[in-house]
This record gives sequence, structure tokens and C-alpha cells, in this order.
Amino acid sequence: MCGIVGYVGDRRAAPLLLERLRRLEYRGYDSAGICTIAEGGFHAVRRKGRIREIACAESLPGTVGIAHTRWATHGAPCEKNAHPHLCGKFALVHNGIVENDGALRASLLRQGAELKSQTDSELIVQMLDREYDGDPMQTLVRVLRRVEGSYALGVLCLDCPGVLFAARRKSPLLVGVGEGECLLASDLPALASEGMQAYVLEDGELAALRADGAEFYGADGKRIQKKPHCTVPREEIPSKGRYPHYMCKEMAEIPLAIRQSLCDLRQDHTFNDVCEVLCQTDYVEIVACGTAYHAGLAAKYAFERLAGIRTDVYLAGEYRDGLPDCTGGECLTIALSQSGETADTIAAASLAKQRGKTLLCITNAPYSTLSSMGDRALVTRAGREIAVAATKSYQAQLAVLYALSLGAARARGRNVDKEYAALERLPDDCRILLSRLGRIGGWAERFRGARSVYFIGKGADHAAAVEGSLKLKELSYIPSEGYAAGELKHGTLSLVDQRTPVVAILTQRQLAARLMNAVSEVASRGARVFLVTSFPEFCARREVISSVVLPETSPLFTPALSVIPLQALAYETALALGNDPDKPRNLAKSVTVE
Ligand code: G6P
Repeated sequence: MCGIVGYVGDRRAAPLLLERLRRLEYRGYDSAGICTIAEGGFHAVRRKGRIREIACAESLPGTVGIAHTRWATHGAPCEKNAHPHLCGKFALVHNGIVENDGALRASLLRQGAELKSQTDSELIVQMLDREYDGDPMQTLVRVLRRVEGSYALGVLCLDCPGVLFAARRKSPLLVGVGEGECLLASDLPALASEGMQAYVLEDGELAALRADGAEFYGADGKRIQKKPHCTVPREEIPSKGRYPHYMCKEMAEIPLAIRQSLCDLRQDHTFNDVCEVLCQTDYVEIVACGTAYHAGLAAKYAFERLAGIRTDVYLAGEYRDGLPDCTGGECLTIALSQSGETADTIAAASLAKQRGKTLLCITNAPYSTLSSMGDRALVTRAGREIAVAATKSYQAQLAVLYALSLGAARARGRNVDKEYAALERLPDDCRILLSRLGRIGGWAERFRGARSVYFIGKGADHAAAVEGSLKLKELSYIPSEGYAAGELKHGTLSLVDQRTPVVAILTQRQLAARLMNAVSEVASRGARVFLVTSFPEFCARREVISSVVLPETSPLFTPALSVIPLQALAYETALALGNDPDKPRNLAKSVTVE
């Protein structure tokens, strides 16, 4: 993670870098820094905290510079660990992890290096300065041969004050070439300038950016020719509009995210191809992280029940340790990611390819690393999601996965007309539900002092429960767990008392009796139970303190609805506790390190 920007051109670098850096703040926000070159020297400002802490850097001189917003991996978030790191004639910003940090550090210390930070990134700038032979590009090539792990780098050298050097391995990095200027950025929104051509650096590639254009190099230091990837789309400047936070704006956009995603699929011939592939598929495996993983868990039920395809869902970071192929038969691997840049998901996707699986990548970012890796790619049309905690992207992912399960079911000759109609109605159902969330503020008042919280459900409701729990943890910092309702009695019930609110999710008619048994069990131990259900008759039960009733839909699609009150609960609880719901502590929107 971490966000990198760099600029070389004829404009003042500092204000532009700060403005572009703000567009990358979702990648990390524990410290920030900027460095320009002017009058033969570096001018740098670094601070702990968010980008606003370096606003004073706006006046730095120079038309060449680099900037960074950090999500700490090696070394605590503090000023000395903030990037850029400077050593002698070099300044550097880094996104990634140096995996042979220990060996490189020991070697530098043996040589008498004085390290100023605890970061792995500083080791690279120290090596550059020590090994510098008058040619910054070739020195960078040599140094990077000794670095194991991942990096996206922006490097300045005082001997070449009009050049910005860049390198990439396993961390995203884009070069933008415009009229009289070049930009470097971790992500497309930070490049956006009129008519700019974007080049995607591939693993092992390097670049030298000047005001009049960019040169590209292979890992061996030889020049290569590259074609532009795209003309940078005009970036709409993100705005909260009439909403106090991006998170509530993005929740309000859930109906649109589903509608647009479904509408796009209808026009995308890849969708029909994938349904044909699914028709021949014996086994689906979904690899994903965080909220996307939870969307996979919820969609498993639709693939299995509607299309009759066995589906397993893997945490992408655990995938490599699973068996290469436990089924035999035709397998489709679906890599699911909002950003398309999550390192664990990318690693799992490339492993699936090595294992000979057909790979479908579903992202919310058509130009992302993941979307170019698959045999096929589909996009969700959630629109840009800025709040760190995913909301509308979850429902958009579900919409696409549900549509695939229906397409596969039809391709297999099954009648799923009722479910098709339910999926079409889903945006309206979400809209109605969003207008019914008034009482959630009252729930939050009761949750703010909780010692821990349980979200319980069975089947697809369990998938919703784990996502609800993740939202609450992310935003309120209250320990919570999503639990299979029937499993509580096998141990975890010992943790439940009157200080433990329990949110029960009930949308599966055939599971109601067993879910309500679990509700009685926790209520008997003093827990206050909050119910999210499709069935109004359960709201009057004496164990239930308060409830939200969901609009009617297919029981296979209910997670798209039941998670909405849980998202709202996390948001309201964060507000009640005085936390920033858009930028929870310690987190980042896009996690580009394994
Ligand atoms: C981070 C974010 C989560 C997100 C996860 C996966 O941890 O904080 O909100 O669900 O990454 O992200 P992806 O972009 O792959 O969906």
C-alpha cells in the first residue's frame, strides 16, 4: 500500500504533488512526506499523520519532486520513518516490502552505514548512495538486483535534477506522459491530467521521466519501447456531496452500483462467454480478501443451489497453502477484488494460473493489475469507493456473482426465472431498505459501550454475519465476531453476558427454528438481541430488543440486503465513539503488500 506520486515538468511541483497525493490517501495515512529538488539541493517535509500535516510543504521550491503517503509495514508510523528517505545525493519513496531486509541491513551496518529510520525502504536509498558510479539509472538497476520482495519506487538524484527515476516489482506504478510534463503515480486517479498517456510499468521495469517524455528500461538496464496503456480518463474530483462522510454517500449509492453492474453485464459479451465456461465447469473456487472474500462466501450459496456447481471460497493469502486441486475436473478460479491491486489476491490468481485453472478476474478497476491477468475479466460498476471500509462494492460484487450463477443455471437448462426477477428488483429493495434504517442510530448508542459483539446467522446469513462483524471491527474498534449460530453452544457461549450485544440475522425460512434456538440461548445469558430478518413475525419475540425487516427477495440474495443495516450500524457506532468512519485507524483501502 502506501501512495506514491512524482512530478517533473514546468509547473511548481509541490502544490501539484500534494493535490495528487490526496487522491491516494486511501492507500495509507499514518505519515506523509514530500521532497523537491531546487538550487542544487533537496527540500523535504515529512510528518506523522495525514497529508494535511504536510500542507506547509506547498511552498517548497522546484519543478521536480516526489511525495508519499504511508501505511506502515516496517517501523512505527512516526516522522523519522516517513518517506521520502534521503541519503547523500539520493531521495526515495517506496511502496512495498524488502523481504531480505535483515541481510541488507546487516551488510550496510557492517559497512558503517548510519541508518536514520527503522524502515526497509531506507536500505535502498543507502545502497544507492554507496554504490553510485555517476549513472543513477544503472546504479538503480544494480541495487535492485540485490533487493528481494516488492517495490514501486520514485527516486531523485541531485546530479540529474531534471529527471525522476522509477522502478517496479509486484507493486503498482504508472507513468503519465503529458505535454511538457511527466507524472508517476501508484494509481490512475492521481495521474489524471488533460490528454495524458498512461504507461503501466511491468514487473522488473524501470523508467526515467523528464519534462519532455519518458524512457523505459528492462531489468537488465537496457532501453525498451513501451506502448501507452490508455489515455488517462478524466477524473471526477471526488466529493461527499450532501453527505457528511464518503461512507454514507457510498451506502446511498448501493442501488445504483447494483443497477449499473447488472446493466453493464448485459452488454458485455465476456459475460456470456463466462456463463458458457461455467456450463462446462465442475468446480468454482473464489479467491479474495476482506469484504470481497465475504461476498464470495455469500455467493457460494447461489452457485451451488442455483447452478449446481460446487464452490469453495479461499482467503487469497491462504490459497497457496491449500491443495493444488482437490477435485479434478474443470475448475474456474474467480479472483474477486474491488481495487484489483490486492497483493494476496494477485498472488493467488497467478498461482491458480500456474496450476492450469481458467482464471476470471472481477474488479471494480478495469485498468488494475488483476483485471489484466485473467483469461477473462469482468468489472463491477460500483463507481469509485473512497471510504476505506467497503460498502457498495460488496453489493456490486454480489450482483455480478449472482448474475453469473443465474447465467450458469440457465446455460445448464435450469429454470431460474423467479430468481432473475428477484435480481432485477434488488436495487429497488436496497433503496427501500436504506429508507428504513432510522432506528440504527439507537442501536449504536447501545453498542458503543459493548465489550464485544456477536453477529450470528446460519447458511447465507452466516456469510452476512461475518461481513457485518468486519464492518463493526473496522470502524468502531470493538472486538466482534461473525459466528455460525449453532456453533456458539460449543464453546463461545461462555463469552456471552449482559455486556455482549448479539445481532441475529434470519432470512432463511428453513433455518428459522434453529436460529431462534441460538437467540434464546444468548438471551438466557443476558445478551441483548438485535434482529435483522425477512420475517416480521419474529420481531415480536420477547428476546428481541429491536429489529429491522428486510424487503422480500430470493433467500439466496438476502446477504445483499441484510448487510446494509450492519454497514449502517458500524457507521453509526463509529460516529457515536467519535471515530472517523472514512479512515479507520491502522487500515488502508488497497493492500498492495503480501
Ligand atoms: C483492504 C480493505 C478492505 C478490503 C480488502 C480487499 O483490507 O481495507 O476493505 O475488503 O482490502 O480489497 P480488494 O480491493 O481486493 O477488494
